[in-house]
Amino acid sequence: MTARTLVLLKPDAVRRGLIGEIIGRIERKAGWTISALELRTLDHDTLEQHYGEHKGKPFYEPLVEFMASGPVVALVVEGERVIEGLRALAGPTDPIAAAPGSIRGDYGVIVRENLIHASDSEESAERELKIFFPGRF
Ligand code: TYD
Ligand code: MG
Repeated sequence: MTARTLVLLKPDAVRRGLIGEIIGRIERKAGWTISALELRTLDHDTLEQHYGEHKGKPFYEPLVEFMASGPVVALVVEGERVIEGLRALAGPTDPIAAAPGSIRGDYGVIVRENLIHASDSEESAERELKIFFPGRF
């Protein structure tokens, strides 16, 4: 089933020069298309909307500080089973638990700095697309 998902390359990925590496992996998946792409620094309002489900948890404040600490790359990716596929390509939240071959498994060590966000469901994707690319999706 064709779908759309919101991907963020987090500030650690941008700082470490991994934009090309990560986008290359996404591009090499057959049939997936990048339909929006932008480098931008996120403000706290946007991050509160995006990560609202985690507000009040102990990791929330440091997460928002980190996500606002430098530019991210926001992308919309479309294609066959892309929501599920990008979660698999990213790997589990904890990069040490993530299998080698996944983005988090290959490049990450600590949970907060896990390189990439990908929407976790159709509902999340629709909600997040509206936050990052209002009026376009
Ligand atoms: P979550 O939505 O649980 O993970 P995912 O990004 O895999 O959907 O959490 C959002 C982000 O919050 C996660 O990518 C990294 C950060 N985080 C922490 O810093 N500590 C934690 O214990 C958890 C669960 C997440
Ligand atoms: Mg999540």
